[in-house]
Amino acid sequence: MLRTLSIIKPDAVEKNVIGKILSRFEENNLKIVACKMVHLTEDRAKKFYMVHKERPFYMDLIKFMTSGPILVSVLEGDDAVAKNRKIMGATDFKKADSGTIRKDFATSIEKNAVHGSDSLDNAKIEIDFFFKNNEIFKR
Ligand code: CMP
Repeated sequence: MLRTLSIIKPDAVEKNVIGKILSRFEENNLKIVACKMVHLTEDRAKKFYMVHKERPFYMDLIKFMTSGPILVSVLEGDDAVAKNRKIMGATDFKKADSGTIRKDFATSIEKNAVHGSDSLDNAKIEIDFFFKNNEIFKR
């Protein structure tokens, strides 16, 4: 069983579609083994998105990600990282396949409803960023 980190971003929380998005994970056999709502500080958001710090959109991204609460989850299942990325769709919602979360709920390349880890190594780093070991359900 593999794990990945999912973030439901401030735009989707504001749109009141947390339940609809979590259902997509469950319908695709990803189990939610940890989940909480947090409001990132500027420092924490900057740290989380450090890999993008040279990008022109970095400061706007930090402003957006601290604009309201987010829902962070750990998803577990077969091939969880790749499966979650498939369910989310392309970063740019205009290029996302129909039936994906971003196609259905994103409003711009920045306000793209969800984040998902892009590799197994990053999934571990991102899960550790948000969750203590005893906050994750184990069977
Ligand atoms: P995410 O998967 O969380 O990874 C980095 C985020 O930066 C991305 O989703 C978008 O929210 C944002 N992003 C990526 N590319 C762009 C872009 N070209 N312009 C603005 N924001 C972007």
